Amino acid sequence: MVSGDLEQFIRDLPKAELHVHIEGTLEPELLCEIAGRNRIPLRFRTVKELHKAYQFHNLQSFLDIYYEGTRALLSEQDFFDLTWAYLERAAQQNVRHAEIFFDPQAHTDRGVPFDAVITGIHRALEDVLPVFGLSSRLIMCFLRHLSADAAMRTLDDSLPFKDWIVAVGLDSSELGHAPEKFVEVFARAKEEGYLTVAHAGEEGPPDYIRQALDLLNVSRIDHGVRCLDDSTLVQRLARERIPLTVCPLSNVKLCVFKSLEDHNLKKLLDLGLCVTVNSDDPAYFGGYITENLLASQQALGLTRHDIYTLARNAFEASFLSAGEKARYIGELDRFMQAHPG
Ligand code: ADE
Ligand code: ZN
Repeated sequence: MVSGDLEQFIRDLPKAELHVHIEGTLEPELLCEIAGRNRIPLRFRTVKELHKAYQFHNLQSFLDIYYEGTRALLSEQDFFDLTWAYLERAAQQNVRHAEIFFDPQAHTDRGVPFDAVITGIHRALEDVLPVFGLSSRLIMCFLRHLSADAAMRTLDDSLPFKDWIVAVGLDSSELGHAPEKFVEVFARAKEEGYLTVAHAGEEGPPDYIRQALDLLNVSRIDHGVRCLDDSTLVQRLARERIPLTVCPLSNVKLCVFKSLEDHNLKKLLDLGLCVTVNSDDPAYFGGYITENLLASQQALGLTRHDIYTLARNAFEASFLSAGEKARYIGELDRFMQAHPG
């Protein structure tokens, strides 16, 4: 059990979230509502049936359901509503800054214009700042199970909206789709001024993490939990302070770890790596950032200092300016002083 004090401390802590797929925040209720108004038939017709279907045995079994859910999203308003719903929840959990992935190819391949996707998301991000004071950045992911040419065309589509996107990323089915497949795309993205991140070492081997660093020049590794299979790589991640955006509930739901008690988050922290905790696809994995922190604290016995380190790492690893980072870390430190352990 989390003691009452520690639980409230986690709930109230100022947080940054760096790994959340906007399509993975589509809650069953909103999915049914949007599918209904767009007259898109769903294989699962009720919220209860949807919840029941969310049992996964690996990443691919999840992605099949995730892409099925994205088929409901058609209009700019759908993307606005989806993003707004996530931001409202995030603000309730005292997320002060969010860096959000979107998967344009999951939509453009169905005939939805790139413009509708990004404008809907961007409008919500802009509107939320004055309402909740929550800052945000947008990261465009390429689907790695599709070709490098398709990723390059998506990069071209994004250029008119360059000012709205801070970085490009790489997601979807990891095994068999090594980072090296996307070397040219990522080099071009860098030339265009984008930062880069990549999912690596979620199901894939440590070598995919190394490729992401050396060939794609990423600033952060998304997941990265399989790095522990390679001690030289771990030393490098610590030495170069490469952030890992770890998603504990996701890893258990997708059977990367048998249980949260078996998760290596605490080990990574104790090795001095720049680890952060994130929600990945919270509508599918049973919790947002607070639930991820609460469950990890309970399962792994994280201390108050561990929780602070995780929160601080996230602000440090964000794509905010040095001044903005200092402001949020100052807020976090004042929170710590006001809540002595
Ligand atoms: N797309 C959405 N969630 C993902 C995950 N956990 N891994 C890879 N691609 C994803
Ligand atoms: Zn992810």
